Amino acid sequence: MAVERYLLPPDGADWRALAAYRRAGGYEAATRALREMTTEAVVEEVKASGLRGRGGAGFSTGQKWSFMPKPGGPKPSYLACNADESEPGTFKDRQIMERNPHLFLEGLIIAGYAINARAAYVYIRGEYVTPFRVLSDAIAELRAAGLLGTGLFGTDREYDIHLMRGAGAYICGEETGMIESAEGRKGQPRKRPPFPAVYGLWGCPTTVNNVETVSHVPWIIKRGAAWFKTIGTPTSTGNTLFGVSGHVNRPGVYELPLGTKLREIIDVHAGGVRGGRALKAIIPGGVSMPVLSAEQVDVAMDHESLKQAGTLLGTGGIVVMDDTACMVRAALVIARFFRHETCGQCTQCREGTAWLYKLLQRIEAGQGSAADLRTIESVGGYMEGQTICALSDAAAWAATGFLRRFRAEFEAHVHEGRCPLPESFEP
Ligand SMILES: Cc1cc2nc3c(=O)[nH]c(=O)nc-3n(C[C@H](O)[C@H](O)[C@H](O)COP(=O)(O)O)c2cc1C
Ligand code: SF4
Repeated sequence: MAVERYLLPPDGADWRALAAYRRAGGYEAATRALREMTTEAVVEEVKASGLRGRGGAGFSTGQKWSFMPKPGGPKPSYLACNADESEPGTFKDRQIMERNPHLFLEGLIIAGYAINARAAYVYIRGEYVTPFRVLSDAIAELRAAGLLGTGLFGTDREYDIHLMRGAGAYICGEETGMIESAEGRKGQPRKRPPFPAVYGLWGCPTTVNNVETVSHVPWIIKRGAAWFKTIGTPTSTGNTLFGVSGHVNRPGVYELPLGTKLREIIDVHAGGVRGGRALKAIIPGGVSMPVLSAEQVDVAMDHESLKQAGTLLGTGGIVVMDDTACMVRAALVIARFFRHETCGQCTQCREGTAWLYKLLQRIEAGQGSAADLRTIESVGGYMEGQTICALSDAAAWAATGFLRRFRAEFEAHVHEGRCPLPESFEP
Protein backbone atom coordinates (compact mmCIF):
# COMPACT_ATOMS: atom_id res chain seq x y z
CA MET A 1 0.00 0.00 0.00
CA ALA A 2 1.33 3.47 -0.89
CA VAL A 3 2.40 5.52 2.09
CA GLU A 4 0.61 8.83 2.53
CA ARG A 5 3.21 11.29 3.80
CA TYR A 6 2.31 14.49 5.60
CA LEU A 7 5.26 15.53 7.77
CA LEU A 8 7.71 16.33 4.99
CA PRO A 9 6.84 18.12 1.74
CA PRO A 10 6.50 15.96 -1.38
CA ASP A 11 9.71 15.49 -3.38
CA GLY A 12 10.54 18.59 -5.36
CA ALA A 13 8.19 20.86 -3.36
CA ASP A 14 9.63 23.76 -1.37
CA TRP A 15 7.29 24.84 1.41
CA ARG A 16 9.74 26.93 3.40
CA ALA A 17 8.23 30.26 2.37
CA LEU A 18 4.97 31.24 4.05
CA ALA A 19 3.23 31.85 0.72
CA ALA A 20 4.18 28.39 -0.59
CA TYR A 21 3.03 26.71 2.62
CA ARG A 22 -0.26 28.60 2.52
CA ARG A 23 -0.83 27.67 -1.11
CA ALA A 24 -0.56 24.02 -0.01
CA GLY A 25 -3.31 24.58 2.60
CA GLY A 26 -1.01 25.67 5.41
CA TYR A 27 -2.45 27.47 8.45
CA GLU A 28 -5.99 26.32 7.60
CA ALA A 29 -5.89 24.01 10.62
CA ALA A 30 -4.69 26.78 12.95
CA THR A 31 -7.40 29.12 11.64
CA ARG A 32 -10.03 26.46 12.23
CA ALA A 33 -8.76 25.46 15.66
CA LEU A 34 -8.51 29.02 16.97
CA ARG A 35 -11.70 30.36 15.42
CA GLU A 36 -14.05 27.40 15.54
CA MET A 37 -12.87 25.05 18.30
CA THR A 38 -12.63 25.46 22.05
CA THR A 39 -9.31 24.67 23.67
CA GLU A 40 -10.93 21.61 25.27
CA ALA A 41 -12.15 20.37 21.87
CA VAL A 42 -8.59 20.59 20.50
CA VAL A 43 -7.25 18.60 23.45
CA GLU A 44 -10.00 16.00 23.03
CA GLU A 45 -9.33 15.64 19.29
CA VAL A 46 -5.61 15.07 19.90
CA LYS A 47 -6.38 12.66 22.74
CA ALA A 48 -8.78 10.74 20.46
CA SER A 49 -6.15 10.54 17.72
CA GLY A 50 -3.93 8.44 19.98
CA LEU A 51 -0.92 10.67 19.18
CA ARG A 52 2.02 9.68 21.37
CA GLY A 53 5.10 11.83 21.96
CA ARG A 54 7.87 11.39 19.43
CA GLY A 55 10.63 12.60 21.79
CA GLY A 56 11.34 9.12 23.13
CA ALA A 57 8.96 8.20 25.92
CA GLY A 58 5.80 7.81 23.80
CA PHE A 59 3.43 9.44 26.30
CA SER A 60 -0.09 10.41 25.11
CA THR A 61 0.09 14.01 23.90
CA GLY A 62 -3.55 14.87 24.55
CA GLN A 63 -3.30 13.47 28.06
CA LYS A 64 -0.16 15.51 28.74
CA TRP A 65 -1.96 18.65 27.59
CA SER A 66 -4.89 17.91 29.88
CA PHE A 67 -2.57 18.15 32.93
CA MET A 68 -2.22 21.88 32.32
CA PRO A 69 -4.24 24.24 34.54
CA LYS A 70 -7.36 26.04 33.34
CA PRO A 71 -6.83 29.67 32.29
CA GLY A 72 -7.13 32.45 34.86
CA GLY A 73 -4.57 31.05 37.30
CA PRO A 74 -1.94 33.17 39.04
CA LYS A 75 0.83 32.31 36.55
CA PRO A 76 1.06 32.27 32.76
CA SER A 77 1.39 28.90 30.99
CA TYR A 78 4.05 28.07 28.43
CA LEU A 79 4.80 25.55 25.72
CA ALA A 80 8.45 24.45 25.75
CA CYS A 81 9.36 22.70 22.55
CA ASN A 82 12.24 20.28 22.63
CA ALA A 83 14.39 20.72 19.52
CA ASP A 84 17.57 19.57 21.20
CA GLU A 85 17.73 16.30 19.22
CA SER A 86 21.01 15.05 20.65
CA GLU A 87 20.34 11.33 20.93
CA PRO A 88 22.94 9.67 18.72
CA GLY A 89 21.29 8.03 15.71
CA THR A 90 18.48 10.61 15.72
CA PHE A 91 18.18 13.32 13.07
CA LYS A 92 14.50 13.53 12.17
CA ASP A 93 13.35 16.77 13.85
CA ARG A 94 16.00 18.53 11.84
CA GLN A 95 14.25 17.45 8.61
CA ILE A 96 10.99 19.02 9.73
CA MET A 97 12.62 22.25 10.88
CA GLU A 98 14.67 22.62 7.71
CA ARG A 99 12.14 21.45 5.15
CA ASN A 100 8.72 22.16 6.63
CA PRO A 101 9.24 24.92 9.22
CA HIS A 102 5.71 26.29 8.91
CA LEU A 103 4.11 22.91 9.65
CA PHE A 104 6.08 22.90 12.89
CA LEU A 105 5.16 26.52 13.68
CA GLU A 106 1.50 25.83 12.92
CA GLY A 107 1.71 22.90 15.33
CA LEU A 108 3.19 25.21 17.97
CA ILE A 109 0.33 27.68 17.49
CA ILE A 110 -2.38 25.02 17.84
CA ALA A 111 -0.64 23.26 20.77
CA GLY A 112 -0.13 26.60 22.52
CA TYR A 113 -3.82 27.40 22.05
CA ALA A 114 -4.87 24.00 23.42
CA ILE A 115 -2.93 24.51 26.66
CA ASN A 116 -3.70 28.24 26.92
CA ALA A 117 -0.03 29.13 26.66
CA ARG A 118 1.11 32.71 26.42
CA ALA A 119 4.17 31.78 24.36
CA ALA A 120 6.20 28.89 22.98
CA TYR A 121 9.92 28.60 23.64
CA VAL A 122 11.76 26.36 21.20
CA TYR A 123 15.02 25.05 22.67
CA ILE A 124 17.12 24.20 19.65
CA ARG A 125 20.36 22.25 19.61
CA GLY A 126 23.30 24.66 19.24
CA GLU A 127 24.84 22.75 16.36
CA TYR A 128 21.62 23.06 14.34
CA VAL A 129 22.63 26.24 12.55
CA THR A 130 20.58 25.73 9.37
CA PRO A 131 17.36 24.75 11.18
CA PHE A 132 17.83 27.79 13.42
CA ARG A 133 18.18 30.10 10.43
CA VAL A 134 15.24 28.56 8.56
CA LEU A 135 13.02 28.81 11.63
CA SER A 136 14.13 32.39 12.38
CA ASP A 137 13.16 33.41 8.84
CA ALA A 138 9.84 31.58 9.05
CA ILE A 139 8.97 33.22 12.38
CA ALA A 140 9.90 36.66 11.00
CA GLU A 141 7.60 36.03 8.02
CA LEU A 142 4.76 35.00 10.32
CA ARG A 143 5.20 38.14 12.42
CA ALA A 144 5.32 40.34 9.33
CA ALA A 145 2.08 38.74 8.11
CA GLY A 146 0.41 39.50 11.44
CA LEU A 147 0.05 35.80 12.28
CA LEU A 148 1.88 36.03 15.62
CA GLY A 149 1.56 38.41 18.53
CA THR A 150 -1.68 40.14 19.47
CA GLY A 151 -4.98 39.27 17.82
CA LEU A 152 -3.77 35.81 16.90
CA PHE A 153 -5.70 34.56 13.83
CA GLY A 154 -8.41 37.15 14.36
CA THR A 155 -9.01 36.18 17.99
CA ASP A 156 -8.33 38.23 21.11
CA ARG A 157 -5.36 35.99 21.99
CA GLU A 158 -1.75 36.95 22.28
CA TYR A 159 0.95 34.41 21.48
CA ASP A 160 4.53 34.45 20.37
CA ILE A 161 7.22 31.92 19.46
CA HIS A 162 10.80 32.39 20.66
CA LEU A 163 13.91 30.43 19.72
CA MET A 164 16.58 29.57 22.29
CA ARG A 165 19.85 27.97 21.31
CA GLY A 166 21.54 25.22 23.33
CA ALA A 167 25.28 24.82 23.67
CA GLY A 168 25.87 21.16 22.92
CA ALA A 169 24.94 19.08 25.97
CA TYR A 170 22.84 15.95 25.57
CA ILE A 171 21.32 16.34 29.01
CA CYS A 172 19.69 19.61 27.90
CA GLY A 173 17.31 17.43 25.86
CA GLU A 174 15.92 15.90 29.05
CA GLU A 175 12.83 17.99 29.67
CA THR A 176 13.74 19.48 33.04
CA GLY A 177 17.43 19.82 32.13
CA MET A 178 16.18 21.75 29.12
CA ILE A 179 14.04 24.00 31.31
CA GLU A 180 16.98 24.71 33.65
CA SER A 181 19.20 25.53 30.68
CA ALA A 182 16.51 27.72 29.11
CA GLU A 183 16.41 29.67 32.37
CA GLY A 184 20.15 30.27 32.09
CA ARG A 185 21.40 27.67 34.55
CA LYS A 186 23.44 24.48 34.23
CA GLY A 187 21.40 21.85 32.40
CA GLN A 188 20.80 19.59 35.38
CA PRO A 189 17.47 17.75 35.49
CA ARG A 190 15.03 18.57 38.28
CA LYS A 191 13.52 16.12 40.72
CA ARG A 192 9.87 15.36 40.04
CA PRO A 193 7.28 16.02 41.40
CA PRO A 194 6.52 18.81 40.80
CA PHE A 195 6.19 18.01 37.09
CA PRO A 196 6.55 20.74 34.44
CA ALA A 197 2.75 21.06 34.08
CA VAL A 198 2.81 22.46 37.63
CA TYR A 199 6.31 23.95 37.87
CA GLY A 200 8.07 24.37 34.55
CA LEU A 201 9.68 27.35 32.81
CA TRP A 202 10.31 30.10 35.40
CA GLY A 203 8.17 28.14 37.84
CA CYS A 204 5.10 28.41 35.57
CA PRO A 205 2.89 25.60 34.20
CA THR A 206 4.64 24.23 31.11
CA THR A 207 4.10 21.47 28.58
CA VAL A 208 7.23 20.01 27.02
CA ASN A 209 6.73 18.54 23.55
CA ASN A 210 9.06 17.29 20.87
CA VAL A 211 9.26 18.97 17.42
CA GLU A 212 7.80 16.01 15.55
CA THR A 213 5.01 15.59 18.10
CA VAL A 214 3.61 19.08 17.54
CA SER A 215 4.08 18.76 13.78
CA HIS A 216 1.43 16.00 13.66
CA VAL A 217 -1.14 18.30 15.26
CA PRO A 218 -2.16 20.48 12.26
CA TRP A 219 -3.01 17.32 10.32
CA ILE A 220 -4.99 15.84 13.19
CA ILE A 221 -7.05 19.04 13.32
CA LYS A 222 -7.37 19.25 9.56
CA ARG A 223 -8.28 15.65 8.80
CA GLY A 224 -9.57 14.47 12.18
CA ALA A 225 -8.63 11.95 14.84
CA ALA A 226 -10.44 9.16 12.97
CA TRP A 227 -8.23 9.66 9.89
CA PHE A 228 -5.07 9.71 12.04
CA LYS A 229 -6.08 6.42 13.63
CA THR A 230 -6.30 4.72 10.26
CA ILE A 231 -2.51 5.05 10.05
CA GLY A 232 -0.22 2.85 12.11
CA THR A 233 -1.47 0.36 14.69
CA PRO A 234 -4.38 0.77 17.14
CA THR A 235 -2.06 1.89 19.95
CA SER A 236 0.78 3.45 17.95
CA THR A 237 -1.05 5.77 15.59
CA GLY A 238 0.15 7.93 12.72
CA ASN A 239 3.28 8.14 10.66
CA THR A 240 6.70 8.77 12.12
CA LEU A 241 10.10 9.75 10.78
CA PHE A 242 12.51 6.84 10.96
CA GLY A 243 16.11 7.99 10.71
CA VAL A 244 18.27 5.18 9.36
CA SER A 245 22.06 5.28 9.70
CA GLY A 246 24.98 2.86 9.78
CA HIS A 247 25.74 0.06 7.36
CA VAL A 248 22.96 0.59 4.82
CA ASN A 249 23.07 1.63 1.18
CA ARG A 250 20.68 4.58 1.55
CA PRO A 251 20.92 6.15 5.00
CA GLY A 252 18.28 8.82 5.50
CA VAL A 253 14.99 9.84 7.06
CA TYR A 254 11.90 7.90 5.95
CA GLU A 255 8.33 8.89 6.79
CA LEU A 256 6.36 5.69 7.35
CA PRO A 257 3.45 4.47 9.47
CA LEU A 258 4.27 3.24 12.96
CA GLY A 259 4.16 -0.54 12.84
CA THR A 260 6.16 -0.79 9.59
CA LYS A 261 8.36 -3.89 9.69
CA LEU A 262 12.00 -3.19 10.53
CA ARG A 263 13.02 -5.46 7.65
CA GLU A 264 11.05 -3.33 5.18
CA ILE A 265 12.67 -0.14 6.47
CA ILE A 266 16.16 -1.57 6.08
CA ASP A 267 15.75 -3.58 2.87
CA VAL A 268 13.27 -1.52 0.87
CA HIS A 269 13.60 2.08 2.04
CA ALA A 270 17.25 2.18 3.15
CA GLY A 271 18.37 0.01 0.23
CA GLY A 272 19.59 -2.98 2.24
CA VAL A 273 22.82 -3.67 4.06
CA ARG A 274 25.85 -2.14 2.31
CA GLY A 275 27.85 -4.42 0.02
CA GLY A 276 25.24 -7.16 0.43
CA ARG A 277 26.84 -8.14 3.74
CA ALA A 278 24.99 -9.98 6.50
CA LEU A 279 22.94 -8.00 8.98
CA LYS A 280 24.17 -8.40 12.54
CA ALA A 281 22.57 -5.90 14.92
CA ILE A 282 20.05 -3.05 14.91
CA ILE A 283 19.50 -0.32 17.47
CA PRO A 284 15.84 0.59 16.90
CA GLY A 285 15.35 4.00 18.52
CA GLY A 286 18.52 5.95 19.27
CA VAL A 287 21.47 4.56 21.21
CA SER A 288 19.59 4.62 24.53
CA MET A 289 17.45 1.69 23.41
CA PRO A 290 18.55 -1.94 23.82
CA VAL A 291 20.00 -3.48 20.65
CA LEU A 292 18.22 -6.16 18.59
CA SER A 293 19.91 -9.07 16.84
CA ALA A 294 19.47 -9.83 13.12
CA GLU A 295 17.02 -12.65 13.94
CA GLN A 296 14.61 -10.01 15.30
CA VAL A 297 14.46 -7.98 12.08
CA ASP A 298 10.85 -8.96 11.41
CA VAL A 299 9.65 -6.96 14.40
CA ALA A 300 7.09 -4.22 13.72
CA MET A 301 8.29 -0.73 14.60
CA ASP A 302 5.62 0.24 17.11
CA HIS A 303 5.64 0.69 20.88
CA GLU A 304 4.05 -2.63 21.77
CA SER A 305 5.92 -4.91 19.36
CA LEU A 306 9.29 -3.47 20.31
CA LYS A 307 8.51 -3.80 24.01
CA GLN A 308 7.69 -7.45 23.42
CA ALA A 309 11.02 -7.81 21.61
CA GLY A 310 12.82 -6.50 24.72
CA THR A 311 13.52 -2.96 23.56
CA LEU A 312 11.71 0.35 22.92
CA LEU A 313 10.78 2.60 20.01
CA GLY A 314 12.56 5.63 21.50
CA THR A 315 13.11 8.25 18.80
CA GLY A 316 12.85 5.84 15.86
CA GLY A 317 16.54 6.43 15.06
CA ILE A 318 17.62 3.10 13.57
CA VAL A 319 21.33 2.22 13.61
CA VAL A 320 22.18 -0.78 11.41
CA MET A 321 25.34 -2.84 11.89
CA ASP A 322 26.65 -5.52 9.55
CA ASP A 323 28.79 -8.56 10.35
CA THR A 324 32.03 -6.55 10.42
CA ALA A 325 30.90 -4.66 13.52
CA CYS A 326 32.29 -5.63 16.91
CA MET A 327 29.52 -5.58 19.50
CA VAL A 328 31.87 -4.78 22.39
CA ARG A 329 33.22 -1.84 20.43
CA ALA A 330 29.69 -0.62 19.68
CA ALA A 331 28.78 -0.86 23.37
CA LEU A 332 32.03 0.91 24.26
CA VAL A 333 31.41 3.87 21.94
CA ILE A 334 27.94 4.30 23.40
CA ALA A 335 29.21 3.97 26.98
CA ARG A 336 31.83 6.65 26.26
CA PHE A 337 29.03 8.96 25.12
CA PHE A 338 27.01 8.48 28.31
CA ARG A 339 30.08 8.83 30.52
CA HIS A 340 30.76 12.17 28.86
CA GLU A 341 27.15 13.38 28.98
CA THR A 342 26.11 12.47 32.54
CA CYS A 343 25.41 15.65 34.47
CA GLY A 344 26.88 14.04 37.59
CA GLN A 345 24.10 14.82 40.09
CA CYS A 346 23.26 11.18 40.89
CA THR A 347 25.96 8.84 42.21
CA GLN A 348 24.58 5.78 40.39
CA CYS A 349 24.76 7.57 37.05
CA ARG A 350 28.00 9.49 37.57
CA GLU A 351 29.92 6.45 38.84
CA GLY A 352 28.00 3.84 36.87
CA THR A 353 28.61 5.42 33.44
CA ALA A 354 32.35 5.65 34.26
CA TRP A 355 32.41 2.01 35.42
CA LEU A 356 30.64 0.71 32.33
CA TYR A 357 33.05 2.58 30.09
CA LYS A 358 36.12 1.26 31.96
CA LEU A 359 34.84 -2.32 31.94
CA LEU A 360 34.04 -2.26 28.22
CA GLN A 361 37.40 -0.67 27.44
CA ARG A 362 39.12 -3.48 29.29
CA ILE A 363 37.13 -6.21 27.55
CA GLU A 364 37.68 -4.69 24.10
CA ALA A 365 41.43 -4.47 24.80
CA GLY A 366 41.45 -8.23 25.50
CA GLN A 367 42.16 -7.71 29.20
CA GLY A 368 38.71 -8.46 30.54
CA SER A 369 37.62 -11.36 32.73
CA ALA A 370 34.41 -13.36 33.16
CA ALA A 371 33.91 -11.40 36.40
CA ASP A 372 33.86 -8.17 34.37
CA LEU A 373 30.83 -9.43 32.44
CA ARG A 374 29.03 -10.06 35.73
CA THR A 375 30.06 -6.61 36.96
CA ILE A 376 28.49 -4.97 33.87
CA GLU A 377 25.22 -6.66 34.79
CA SER A 378 25.36 -5.68 38.44
CA VAL A 379 26.45 -2.07 37.80
CA GLY A 380 23.65 -1.79 35.21
CA GLY A 381 21.16 -3.09 37.76
CA TYR A 382 22.12 -0.38 40.28
CA MET A 383 21.74 2.32 37.60
CA GLU A 384 18.14 1.55 36.65
CA GLY A 385 15.13 3.24 38.22
CA GLN A 386 17.17 5.00 40.89
CA THR A 387 18.02 8.40 39.52
CA ILE A 388 16.63 11.87 38.82
CA CYS A 389 16.36 11.30 35.08
CA ALA A 390 16.46 8.44 32.59
CA LEU A 391 20.00 9.01 31.29
CA SER A 392 21.25 6.51 33.84
CA ASP A 393 18.67 3.90 32.77
CA ALA A 394 19.57 4.52 29.12
CA ALA A 395 23.28 3.97 29.74
CA ALA A 396 22.52 0.75 31.61
CA TRP A 397 20.05 -0.53 28.96
CA ALA A 398 22.55 0.08 26.17
CA ALA A 399 25.46 -1.76 27.83
CA THR A 400 23.50 -4.64 29.31
CA GLY A 401 21.47 -4.94 26.08
CA PHE A 402 24.61 -5.59 24.03
CA LEU A 403 25.88 -8.07 26.61
CA ARG A 404 22.56 -9.94 26.76
CA ARG A 405 22.12 -10.22 22.98
CA PHE A 406 25.76 -10.86 22.07
CA ARG A 407 27.16 -12.62 25.15
CA ALA A 408 29.12 -15.12 23.06
CA GLU A 409 31.05 -12.28 21.42
CA PHE A 410 31.83 -10.69 24.79
CA GLU A 411 33.02 -14.09 26.05
CA ALA A 412 35.18 -14.55 22.95
CA HIS A 413 36.98 -11.28 23.80
CA VAL A 414 37.68 -12.64 27.28
CA HIS A 415 38.72 -16.17 26.22
CA GLU A 416 40.85 -15.11 23.25
CA GLY A 417 42.38 -12.14 25.09
CA ARG A 418 41.76 -9.93 22.02
CA CYS A 419 39.05 -8.46 19.84
CA PRO A 420 37.99 -11.18 17.37
CA LEU A 421 36.88 -8.47 14.90
CA PRO A 422 39.92 -6.18 14.59
CA GLU A 423 38.66 -4.83 11.24
CA SER A 424 35.56 -3.37 12.90
CA PHE A 425 34.94 0.40 12.86
CA GLU A 426 37.31 2.66 14.84
CA PRO A 427 36.13 3.12 18.43
C1 LIG B 1 18.85 12.11 28.65
C2 LIG B 1 17.62 12.47 27.88
C3 LIG B 1 17.73 13.18 26.69
C4 LIG B 1 16.60 13.53 25.97
N1 LIG B 1 16.74 14.22 24.79
C5 LIG B 1 15.63 14.59 24.09
C6 LIG B 1 15.74 15.35 22.89
O1 LIG B 1 16.85 15.70 22.44
N2 LIG B 1 14.60 15.70 22.24
C7 LIG B 1 13.35 15.36 22.72
O2 LIG B 1 12.35 15.72 22.14
N3 LIG B 1 13.22 14.63 23.85
C8 LIG B 1 14.32 14.26 24.55
N4 LIG B 1 14.18 13.55 25.72
C9 LIG B 1 12.80 13.27 26.19
C10 LIG B 1 12.25 14.50 26.94
O3 LIG B 1 12.65 14.41 28.30
C11 LIG B 1 10.73 14.59 26.89
O4 LIG B 1 10.19 13.37 27.30
C12 LIG B 1 10.17 14.92 25.52
O5 LIG B 1 10.76 16.07 24.98
C13 LIG B 1 8.68 15.12 25.64
O6 LIG B 1 8.11 15.37 24.39
P1 LIG B 1 7.00 14.40 23.75
O7 LIG B 1 6.01 14.07 24.82
O8 LIG B 1 6.42 15.23 22.68
O9 LIG B 1 7.73 13.22 23.25
C14 LIG B 1 15.32 13.16 26.45
C15 LIG B 1 15.20 12.43 27.64
C16 LIG B 1 16.34 12.07 28.33
C17 LIG B 1 16.19 11.28 29.59
S1 SF4 C 1 20.52 10.34 36.00
FE1 SF4 C 1 22.53 11.10 35.37
S2 SF4 C 1 22.11 12.70 33.89
FE2 SF4 C 1 20.18 12.31 34.98
S3 SF4 C 1 20.17 13.77 36.68
FE3 SF4 C 1 21.15 11.93 37.47
S4 SF4 C 1 23.35 12.22 37.10
FE4 SF4 C 1 22.27 13.72 35.86
